[in-house]
Amino acid sequence: MEVFEQWESEIRGYCRAYPTVFASASNARQTDEQGKEYIDFFAGAGVLNFGHNNPRMKEALIKFLQEDGVSHSLDMATSCKREYIQAFADTILIPRKMNYKMQFMGPTGTNAVEAALKLARRVTGRSEVVAFSQGFHGMTLGALACTANNYFRNAAGVPLNNVTHVPFETSKGGGLENLEAVKAAYLSGSSGNDLPAAFMVETIQAEGGVNIASQEWLQAVQQMAHELGALFIVDDIQVGCGRTGQYFSFEDLHIDPDIICLAKGIGGYGTPLAMNLIKPEHDAHWKPGEHTGTFRGQGISFIAGREGLRYFENDELMQQTRKRSAMMTEFLESLSQKYSDGKFVVRGKGLIHGIDVADNDLAKGIARQCFDDGLLIGPCGVTSRVIKFIPPLTANDDDLSQGLEIFAQAVAKKVGG
Ligand SMILES: Cc1ncc(COP(=O)(O)O)c(C=O)c1O
Repeated sequence: MEVFEQWESEIRGYCRAYPTVFASASNARQTDEQGKEYIDFFAGAGVLNFGHNNPRMKEALIKFLQEDGVSHSLDMATSCKREYIQAFADTILIPRKMNYKMQFMGPTGTNAVEAALKLARRVTGRSEVVAFSQGFHGMTLGALACTANNYFRNAAGVPLNNVTHVPFETSKGGGLENLEAVKAAYLSGSSGNDLPAAFMVETIQAEGGVNIASQEWLQAVQQMAHELGALFIVDDIQVGCGRTGQYFSFEDLHIDPDIICLAKGIGGYGTPLAMNLIKPEHDAHWKPGEHTGTFRGQGISFIAGREGLRYFENDELMQQTRKRSAMMTEFLESLSQKYSDGKFVVRGKGLIHGIDVADNDLAKGIARQCFDDGLLIGPCGVTSRVIKFIPPLTANDDDLSQGLEIFAQAVAKKVGG
C-alpha cells in the first residue's frame, strides 16, 4: 500500500477499510496480489450488477476495440450509441409503456442529479428543492445540497443553499402525517419556504441505511409535488438497473416520476455512464448543449451497457433475484434471532439488504472480520451501523451462500454465541 500512502490524496476512503491491493476479478470474486480471494458483496456500490468482467460484455468490448469502434464522441451520433438507445427503448421503455427522453451527461450519478435539478428549476422557474433526511445524491454542489449527511456537506466549503430537507418516511418524524403537514404549510403560503421546483427522492435509501419507502408514502410525495406545481424526481442510481428484482426500483409501486436518474449499473462493466429519463414535455425546456459534459458518449460504456440490457429481455435474472431476496431475508432474520433476540433489524428488497446492528463499532468490527475472512462488505447509514449487502445479481449460488456463511461466522465471532 506504500505507493498509495505516499502519493495518493488523504481523501482515500475504501482502500483504508479494505487494506489490500486487488489484482483481478471475476463475477462475485476479487483476488488480491497475494492470491487471496474475496467474495464481493459490495459490487462497486451498485455498479457491478452483472459481476466483474462479465464474459458477454468482455467479448462485446473486445470485438468493439478490434473493429476500431468510436470510443469517444462527445455527444456526436455513433453506431454504438444508437444501438444502446434503441435497445433501451425496446427492452425497458416500450414494454413498460413509458414515454421518456434519454439525456446523457458526464458519466457519474452526481452529474445526473445536477442535470435533473437544473431542468426542474428551468421548467418551474423556481429555485428551491425538497430532499429527504438520510438521502444521498452525490458530491457536486447541487447534488451535495440534496445529500443529507453532514460529513459530506461539511466538505463543501460554501453554503449549500436552495434545498429544504424533510424527514424521509422511516426517519424520526417522517411518514404520511408529516407529508400532510409539509403540504399544508406550503399551501398556506406561510411555510417560510418558497414553493419548490422538485421533490428529489430515493425509493430505497442505499447509502442512508437501506431505508425502504412504502408505496403510499411515495405516491403521497408524488401527489404533493404535482399539487404544488413541482417535479417528482426519483434517484434510482443505486437501486435501479435490476437491483430490486425489477429494472426500476419502483415498478410495483405505481408511481410515475417526471425525471428518473440512472447511473452506476447501466454502464454494465464498470464502464461509466449516466442517463436521465425525462418526460418529453419537461425535456422540451432544454436548449441544445446547455448541459454538456465531455464524457457523454463513451463507446465502451454503450457497448457494455447494451449487453447488460440483454439480461432484461426475459425475466430469468429478475426472477432469480427475487427468489434470492427471500432467501437472504430469511438468512439474516435468523441471524438476528440467534445473536440479538431479533433486535438486529433486517431490511431489503431484491438483492439490496441491510442489517442494522444498532452499534457502529460492532458494524465496523463485523465488516473488518469479514474482510479478514474473505468477504467484502461495508457499513452504511448515518451512524454506519447498518451492514449493506449488495452482491452482483449474477453471483453464483456457491459464492452467495459462502459469502453469507462468512458473514454469519463474523457475527458469531464479534457477538458471541
Ligand atoms: C442514490 C445515489 N445517487 C447519487 C449517487 C452519486 O453517484 P456518483 O458517485 O456516481 O456520483 C449515488 C452514489 O452512491 C447514489 O447512491
